[in-house]
This record gives sequence, C-alpha cells and structure tokens, in this order.
Amino acid sequence: MSKINLLPDVKSAVGTSKENSSPKLNLTTCMEKNDSLPIFKSYRQGGSRYEDVLSLNADQLNLKFEENIMVSSDKIWDQLATISQFNYIDFKSIYGNDNPLNLEIGIGNGEFLAHIGNSYTDENFLGLEVFKEVFLKAVSKIRNQELHNCRIIQFDTALIVRLIEDNYLNSIYVNFPDPWPKKAHKKRRLLKIDFIEQLASKLKVGGTLNIATDHDDYAAEIAENIVAVKQLKSEYDSVYVRNITDYFHTKYYRKFVSTDGAYFFKYRRI
Ligand SMILES: C[S@@+](CC[C@H](N)C(=O)[O-])C[C@H]1O[C@@H](n2cnc3c(N)ncnc32)[C@H](O)[C@@H]1O
Repeated sequence: MSKINLLPDVKSAVGTSKENSSPKLNLTTCMEKNDSLPIFKSYRQGGSRYEDVLSLNADQLNLKFEENIMVSSDKIWDQLATISQFNYIDFKSIYGNDNPLNLEIGIGNGEFLAHIGNSYTDENFLGLEVFKEVFLKAVSKIRNQELHNCRIIQFDTALIVRLIEDNYLNSIYVNFPDPWPKKAHKKRRLLKIDFIEQLASKLKVGGTLNIATDHDDYAAEIAENIVAVKQLKSEYDSVYVRNITDYFHTKYYRKFVSTDGAYFFKYRRI
C-alpha cells in the first residue's frame, strides 16, 4: 500500500475490508428539485460541496426542532426548494444557552451521542445522520433519556457543517464513517482533505477532531489527508493509535472491530 510510511502497522487492505453496512440511499440533489439552484451534490454522491449555500445577507436555515430534539430532512428539502442561500445557524437560540457545542457526524442509532450527552450535561451536542431508519432510533434514545442538551438533524453533513460559524465547535466526532470499500466508490468517502480542512476551520483553537475507523484502506487515506491539514496536530505521538481505553463502543464498533482494535485519530486545532 502506498501510504505505508504513514501507517507502519496497517495490514494489507486486500481481503480485510468489511462490507459497507450502510444502506444505499437515493438522495435527491438540489438540482433535481429545482434547476435554478446552485449545483451541489451530497458526499454520498461523490459530488461537490454546498459551496455557494452560505451568504451572510441571507436568512437562517429554519431549524425547528420537533420536541426540541429533531429536524427531519423533508423540512430542510422544502426550504432548499425555494431558497438557495443561508446565513450561519444560531445555536444559542436553538439550545437556549451559550454552552460549548460538540458535533457528531453520522450518529447511526445515536448511542454515542446519547453517551456523551449524558456525560457532559453542561455542553451541547448536535448529531447529523442521513439515514431515516437509524435516525428515528436516535430520536427515541434522546427522547427516552430526556437529553435536553442534544439535538439531531436528518441531513447531509455537507450542508449543515457549511452553516456552522468558523472557530465555533468544541469537538467533532466521526465514528466509523462509511468506508465505501469498492474501488469505484472510494470517491464517496467523507474524509477528503477539503472536508477535513473545513472541519478544522469550524473548531475553536484547542478543539478536537476525533475519528475512528476499522477500515485499513480508509485509515490510510484519512492519515494521509489529516497530516496535510496544518491547522491540526495529533494528540498522540503517532498519526493514530489502534486502541484507546476510554472509547465508547458504538454498535458499529461492537459488530466489526477485531481484537487488533480500530484506528483512532485525535487531532487538536492549533
Ligand atoms: C458505518 S455507520 C456508523 C454509525 C455510528 N457512528 C456507529 O459507530 O455505530 C456510518 C453512518 O454515517 C451516516 N452518514 C454517511 N454519510 C453521511 C453524511 N454525509 N451526513 C450524515 N450522515 C452520514 C450513515 O447513514 C451511517 O449511519
């Protein structure tokens, strides 16, 4: 593997990849909805980002959290059908306080978000998830555990992250992003260099970007990309570590991670 210098203990990716466990989504692009809108595609479609969606002169995306928990994707698509540009999201009005905001991308069934939300009650948590079935499981968890500091949005991170102010987030978690193991699908992977750069710019100085993956080839790609982002510095002596003791084991971790551990990246915004 070409990235062997970065990942000395990465096994050969051949034959070790797990099948991508995520459902295939048929996300509609904004272009398909309304031809007058700027061209953008979701990450899953291997497309460009929501580059032109931010305008400081525009109104905010209307995020009306049902039950103070969730916004479903149809509510956002409805707005995208008629409006193409938005201002930054006002999280202070969403949470009713100015506590530090933490973001999890791809929350799955929401157990990690619920865990950290429960552990840090004086901080706010925002979770993003595109897939409705697991999103609804996350809604139930947050509802049942009465986590008043957690909100979740069923939408592509490509749009929502764009609408978070720079230097704002306390931490970002990306636990087991879809590995897209087939060669032809690799371009759909989320953690491309420009997206990692964007995530870094959304962190406050001192904030952390935390990534876990079990996928050898994706780990190598993340390693190569993340070391190229000058705003980020590893918290470890190495580019990643294979085991961490305080990591909450998500459903994906329990299902797929072998005794070799996963690849954990923890980078601080400098
Ligand atoms: C492999 S699963 C991991 C779920 C969970 N983090 C865990 O560790 O169990 C990846 C999740 O990311 C979600 N996802 C993928 N691309 C996304 C995107 N662009 N925006 C938001 N969520 C996304 C998928 O729907 C899926 O639920």
